[in-house]
Amino acid sequence: MKPKKLSFLEILDSYSAEESSLIPLLQDAQDEDGYISPEKVEGIAQHLKITESQVYGVASFYSQFRFTPPGRHSISVCLGTACHVSGGETLLNTFERDLEISPGECTPDGRFDLNRVACLGCCALAPVVKIDDDIYSKVNVIKLNDIIGLYE
Ligand code: FES
Repeated sequence: MKPKKLSFLEILDSYSAEESSLIPLLQDAQDEDGYISPEKVEGIAQHLKITESQVYGVASFYSQFRFTPPGRHSISVCLGTACHVSGGETLLNTFERDLEISPGECTPDGRFDLNRVACLGCCALAPVVKIDDDIYSKVNVIKLNDIIGLYE
């Protein structure tokens, strides 16, 4: 039998009110629907008896956490060492310019969200871009438009 999914309040109650609970709480909060809403930040702050600014301050240090709903497709641009020296930053800048969003944001039409990630584990294929579960290797800015066009 599939285990019952916990509500956010049950998730909060499953953690002790200590600052060391913050990261696992943020992870569980994000697992629920793909991002951490302002209401969840407020709930976490109240549970841990810290300020919302402290929650945001810690969470924004980690690129894994997002504060806006994810898009229908998630773009991850690798900025690990191999990808960085092969043009990963240029690819990220191009996505930012073309989609008019920054990492951690979603396009207004909900089509894409954009993320920067450390090594995706296939450095020999650098620079690498991942969209949903698809890996694109040796990407350059000319290929980006064709790749984007594959996703509705
Ligand atoms: S650095 Fe990009 S896949 Fe390893």
